[in-house]
Amino acid sequence: MPATSVIGLQWGDEAKGKIVDLLTESHQVVVRYQGGNNAGHTVKFDGTTYKLSLLPTGILHSHITSVIAPGVVVNPLALLRELDGLQSGGQDCSGRLLVSDRAHVICPWHMLEEAAVEKSRGAAAIGTTMRGIGTCYKDKVGRSHAIRIGDLVKKDSFAAKVREIVPFKQKLLNALDPDSTQLDADQIIEQYSAAAERIRPMAVDTTAWLLDALDQQKHILFEGAQGSLLDVDHGTFPYVTSSNSSGCGIHSGSGIPERAIQRMIGVAKAYTTRVGGGPFPSELDNEIGQRIRIAGNEFGTVTGRPRRCGWFDAVATRYSARISGVDSLTIALLDVLSGFDELNICEAYDIRGQITRSLPSRCEDLADAKPVLRSIPGWKEDITGVRNFRDLPPNAQQYCRTIEQLIGKPVEFISVGPDRSQTIHMAR
Ligand code: GDP
Ligand code: IMO
Ligand code: MG
Repeated sequence: MPATSVIGLQWGDEAKGKIVDLLTESHQVVVRYQGGNNAGHTVKFDGTTYKLSLLPTGILHSHITSVIAPGVVVNPLALLRELDGLQSGGQDCSGRLLVSDRAHVICPWHMLEEAAVEKSRGAAAIGTTMRGIGTCYKDKVGRSHAIRIGDLVKKDSFAAKVREIVPFKQKLLNALDPDSTQLDADQIIEQYSAAAERIRPMAVDTTAWLLDALDQQKHILFEGAQGSLLDVDHGTFPYVTSSNSSGCGIHSGSGIPERAIQRMIGVAKAYTTRVGGGPFPSELDNEIGQRIRIAGNEFGTVTGRPRRCGWFDAVATRYSARISGVDSLTIALLDVLSGFDELNICEAYDIRGQITRSLPSRCEDLADAKPVLRSIPGWKEDITGVRNFRDLPPNAQQYCRTIEQLIGKPVEFISVGPDRSQTIHMAR
């Protein structure tokens, strides 16, 4: 079984990092193939908590080669900051990371343009992470004013590109905001060229490398970032990220053929969270939502923003599981729901009197969706020490079985705490 993937089935932060970490033991390569340093993946083992953003979660393990594939957008300064942070924490990651020479580079103008556009949207702002993700992807798709890692590590070519792009971007920034920051081409070239010196040894054709790794039967793990509902094509547009964050992005982002992925694991929280703007039918903008936020420590890993919390949305999660073609489910953070008398699962939407189990394609329709809730009795016990499904309180078992039945996929893992060990493996 050479290739496995881990995909978020909600709006991100489903505990993908924990599940990827759990699976690294049986893999040799971990690949990030979309997104960038908008991601925040938390991993906890041996009493230490690690937060990964742009780096694949596999970077924490010496037996893993970590790969940043062509579909990722790379801020070189953020990349080095993250590597240096791990180094100063005692993790020597040198020689463990490969960065695609096809990956696009996030430059200072991307953050500035994003800030100006978000500001101009006012109340309709997407609530992005302000990392220049969307604006970098925009330049990539636009095919002009784009810089790739392969250009960054070629000194003359990089400087020429920056000098060509800066006047254009300055005009654009000035038009968006008369008080905009002045870009300094020399400073950008100097700062990025210093980073390029360090990135050059890691910059390779990762597509060829991964195809060879597949031929050699290496076990490859694809680490999804964000969640399927944030997918630019299939998510809750326009309140999405700018990449294919559902399973659809693996092949385009990595260059690996679809049939190579033999195991697709969809990760969902036992409830739902969302950071930033956009419709959220099962949202609990009340005391219950606040209770979940506190119990689940639902504050963004990247931006620290409080996450919006709500009941498990089986309509949206089933849609995600279907478009990504997942083989199994992970239900994460089940422990957070301990102590409630009653829990609810959103099993359908009522959209202006029409009952549906389909996710509407228009955001305006989703905004009008009222959740049709199925009530399930809660449980009082602390379940963070449980390791076997049969040892869960009966109501917790019923809760998981209901999710399984509504999504139509078997549950493979249940996570009952942030630590790697706090996991129920259904097959055992
Ligand atoms: P990711 O972006 O999908 O990797 O998820 P994040 O790391 O952004 O958010 C998940 C948060 O939940 C992190 O703080 C994890 O340490 C934590 N976590 C993961 N699994 C569990 C769990 O089963 N129970 C609890 N209480 N916390 C968990
Ligand atoms: P992980 O990998 C949760 C959200 C932002 C915003 C929208 C667009 O940790 O699950 P962007 O900066 O990508 O243009 O922002 O997407 N978002 C995430 N939400 N988890 C993430 O990553 C996210 N990455 C982006 O909050 O609503
Ligand atoms: Mg996260």
